[in-house]
Amino acid sequence: MSADDPIHNPFRENFSSRQNPDSCVLVIFGATGDLTHRKLIPALYNLAVDGDLPTPQRVVGFARREKSDEVFRAGLEDVNRKVSRQGHDDALWAQFSQTITYHRGEFQDTDDYRSLAKKLDAIHDENVALGNRLFYIASAPEFFDEILIGLKEAGLNEAKPGCWSRVVVEKPFGTDLTSAEHLNQMVGQTFPEKDTYRIDHYLGKETAQNLMVLRFANTIFEPLWNQHHVEAVQITCSEHLGMEGGRGGYYDKSGALRDMVQNHLLQLLSLVAMEPPTDLSADGVRDEKVKVIRSLRPLIGAKAVGENVIRAQYTAGSIGGQEVVGYRQEDRVNPESLTESYVALRVHIDTWRWSGVPFFIRMGKRLPKKATEISIHFKKPPCVLFNRQTSANNQNVLVIRIQPDEGHSLRITSKVPGSALRLEPVKMDFRYRTSFGKASPEAYERLLLDAMAGDATLFARRDEVEEAWRFIDEIEKAWHSGDSPLPMAEYPAGSWGPEAADDLLQQHGQIWRRL
Ligand SMILES: NC(=O)c1ccc[n+]([C@@H]2O[C@H](COP(=O)([O-])OP(=O)(O)OC[C@H]3O[C@@H](n4cnc5c(N)ncnc54)[C@H](OP(=O)(O)O)[C@@H]3O)[C@@H](O)[C@H]2O)c1
Repeated sequence: MSADDPIHNPFRENFSSRQNPDSCVLVIFGATGDLTHRKLIPALYNLAVDGDLPTPQRVVGFARREKSDEVFRAGLEDVNRKVSRQGHDDALWAQFSQTITYHRGEFQDTDDYRSLAKKLDAIHDENVALGNRLFYIASAPEFFDEILIGLKEAGLNEAKPGCWSRVVVEKPFGTDLTSAEHLNQMVGQTFPEKDTYRIDHYLGKETAQNLMVLRFANTIFEPLWNQHHVEAVQITCSEHLGMEGGRGGYYDKSGALRDMVQNHLLQLLSLVAMEPPTDLSADGVRDEKVKVIRSLRPLIGAKAVGENVIRAQYTAGSIGGQEVVGYRQEDRVNPESLTESYVALRVHIDTWRWSGVPFFIRMGKRLPKKATEISIHFKKPPCVLFNRQTSANNQNVLVIRIQPDEGHSLRITSKVPGSALRLEPVKMDFRYRTSFGKASPEAYERLLLDAMAGDATLFARRDEVEEAWRFIDEIEKAWHSGDSPLPMAEYPAGSWGPEAADDLLQQHGQIWRRL
C-alpha cells in the first residue's frame, strides 16, 4: 500500500465532511517543537484516521537540529502515542508517517529556503496533485520576520500556476498594536490577506463554532439576545496550572491580558455579541465580529482602567491538595514582577443591541479548576406571583461550556415536589459527548482542514487583530505608565481570584458563576 492511498480504518464510521480541502504539502517551520508534536501531527493523524485528510498529502518539517526522516518520525510517534485523541494504531501510523519528511534548516539562512523550494518542486514533479503549499509558522514570534523573508527570497510565497500558496501564523500575533501592525505589514508584503490564516485555536473549538448555530439556527434565543432581556454576560477562562515547565519566562513578559484576553476571549466576546452576518462567508462573519471589537467602549486613563479592570497575582496556596508557590516565586519569573496572572474586566459594547449590558471577562492562573465558559444572565422575573422575593437564584442563565465537558445548560426555576410551594433552580443540560456519542475533534483538526480548504472564517483577520490590540494597549498603558501605578491585587493559589474582582459585579447585583 502506498503512502497516498487513503488510510483504511475498519473502525471508521461513515462520515460526511462539509469541507472540501485540497491536497497540499504542509511545511511546518519549527517542526521539532512542542506545538508540532503535541498538536499539529496528532491533529493530522486523527484526520487521516477519520478519512478526512485529502490524499495525496505530505508534511515537510523544517527545523535546526540534524535529524533523519526516520528519527524525526520516531519522535513524533512517541508523542502521538501519548496524546492522540483516538489512540495510536501502529499499522495506521506506519502508513501515515510515510507522508512526513524532515528538512534541516536555519530560519536565518536563505540557502535553506532555496533547498526547501527544490524539495517542494521535486515532490510536485513526482505527483502533480502536490503543487499546493501550506506554510505553517510554528516558531517563537521573534522568527516570524525571518521566515517570511526567507519564503519570499526563495519565491515560495508565489503559487505555481493552478495551485495555491498560503501561510498560517501562530499566536502571539504581536505584543501590542505597533508590533501587530508591523507583523501584518510583513505578512502583507509576502502573502495576500486571502492567503493569510492567523490561528486562534479557540475558534476551532466545537462549542465556539456552535455559538453561531445556537444563536442563528434556533428561534428561541435570538429574540432574547439583547439589552431588553439580558442583564449581564460573563466570560471566564480559568486555569489551574501555574508556571510549570519553564513557562514563566514567556508568561512574565506577557500576562493574562495579552496572552488570553486580547485574542481568545475577545474572539469569544465577538461571537456572543455580533449581529447576524448576511452570509456564512469568511468576510461576512468577520465583518460582524470586528464591529463588536470596534464598538467596545475604550478604557482610557488610570481612572477608567482602575474602575473597570482588576489585575492580580497569586500568592502561595494549595491546588488539589498540593502546596504551590506564589507567582513571584515561580521559576523564571522576576521576583518583583508586575505581570498579572489574573485579570477581570467590565466592558461595554456601545451598540443598540447591547447598550447598558455589562460584559464581565476574567482569566486567571492557579484557579481551582480548568474551564472556559460563557454565561448569559437573563433579567430577573417581575416580583409578583412566585417571585415575591427575587434572588440571583431565580435568574435564568444560559451557560455555554467551551472546555472541558463541552455543552450547554439552561437554568430555569422549578417547583420542588411536595405540598409546600418551594421553588428551586434546575438545569437543562446538553453535553456533546452524550448527545453525539463521541468527543469533539481537536481545534487544530478543524483549523488545518479549513486552511487546506481555503476557508478563513475561523481565523482572525488583520483588522480584528489590530482593533483588539488598540483596546488592550490602553489598559496596558494605564497599568505601566504614570507616577502612581494602579494596584496589583493578590489571591491565594487555589482560590477564585481577588475580592476586588467580586466588587466589579456587586455593583450590578451580580456574582461570578462558581464553575
Ligand atoms: N506549544 C503549544 O501548545 C502552543 C500553543 C499555542 C501556540 N503556540 C505558539 O506556537 C509557536 C511555537 O511554539 P512551540 O511550543 O512549538 O515552540 P518550541 O517548542 O520552542 O519550538 C521551537 C521550534 O523552532 C525551531 N527553531 C528555533 N530557532 C530556530 C532557528 N534559528 N532555525 C531553525 N529552527 C529554529 C526549533 O528547532 P530546534 O529544536 O531544531 O532548535 C523548534 O523546532 C510559538 O509562537 C507559540 O507561542 C504554542
